[in-house]
Amino acid sequence: MLDPSGLVFRPLLHDDIGSATDLLMLGSPSGVRYHLAVQLAAAEAGERGCAFVAEWEGSIVGSALLSDDPLLPGLVSTLVAVAEPARKSGVGSALADLLGEQLQHEALPAYCKLPDDQFEGRRFAERRGFVLCGHSLGWSLDLTARDGTLERAAREAARSADVRIRQADMRKELDTVLECALRCMPGMPSEQHVAPEKARKYLPDDAIVLLAEREVPGQGQGPRAIGLTALSPRIETAAWYTLFTGVAPAHRRSGVARALKTESFLRARHARAQSVVTHNHDTNDAIIGLNTSFGMQPAPGYWDLRQPRPA
Ligand SMILES: CC(C)(COP(=O)(O)OP(=O)(O)OC[C@H]1O[C@@H](n2cnc3c(N)ncnc32)[C@H](O)[C@@H]1OP(=O)(O)O)[C@@H](O)C(=O)NCCC(=O)NCCS
Repeated sequence: MLDPSGLVFRPLLHDDIGSATDLLMLGSPSGVRYHLAVQLAAAEAGERGCAFVAEWEGSIVGSALLSDDPLLPGLVSTLVAVAEPARKSGVGSALADLLGEQLQHEALPAYCKLPDDQFEGRRFAERRGFVLCGHSLGWSLDLTARDGTLERAAREAARSADVRIRQADMRKELDTVLECALRCMPGMPSEQHVAPEKARKYLPDDAIVLLAEREVPGQGQGPRAIGLTALSPRIETAAWYTLFTGVAPAHRRSGVARALKTESFLRARHARAQSVVTHNHDTNDAIIGLNTSFGMQPAPGYWDLRQPRPA
């Protein structure tokens, strides 16, 4: 336990972004650093949200962020993280109080996502009025066990679904990708919608985005994008994270998602990934059915906690 009299609480500065991101990653279910770094930079620049740090003897020992999330446009996201040696010294509570003051000026309700093996974090949030309102299951696939079979499986899956799978060029095809993603959203559990104007920032620069294309009679010339999947490296470089998989409703149950994901596993393996991880809302039977059909194994999921606004 550190001496609390040496603690300084202050707004995040540009030079703190790296340390603050490292700390907040402790509570990040996705393990994808990019989103937190973007949110912290936007807060520091005064564009959106706000962020604070706790400093002790020149080191950042705690961080707190209030921001938005393109996947949950009707809510503000909150996150507090404290380095292990600085815990039980009131750092987390002081940072949460700073966020609480900011939340009073917010019109939208607050939420936080917490890994479902972090019981202390959940109790901390519940003591501050957050209420459990959803749960996502975690899944992991060991790619090393599939060496030698993925190439053929990907080819077979695309052939049997009658699709061509190709990697989108995100510098030139962002609009095509976003338009396709929006067509593939129906059926997602409520509130998991992407705000189109904000979705542009959702995909990290190092993400692999795969499009499934098919000739669709009566829909113009050439193949049309009817599904996509996007995945990105996690902080542990040997694991990749699937951010989203979707197929346009008229083309579902014809093997398109299976073809997309099989190809994504192959591409991740070529990028030296040893495993692919993902999360699915526990009511989303379609994607859970798909992921279990690949033999994905249970992994840590996350809780969705919300702070109801006073009536
Ligand atoms: C989940 C989703 C991507 C599946 O796409 P799809 O192209 O219909 O899936 P496939 O045809 O490749 O299905 C492959 C397997 O997944 C499972 N599956 C797919 N849909 C299912 C459903 N509705 N219920 C149960 N299992 C299902 C089955 O095992 C299926 O194999 P089978 O058809 O031989 O039984 C699609 O339903 C979707 O776009 N949903 C909305 C977006 C979403 O929720 N994405 C997940 C969050 S990121």
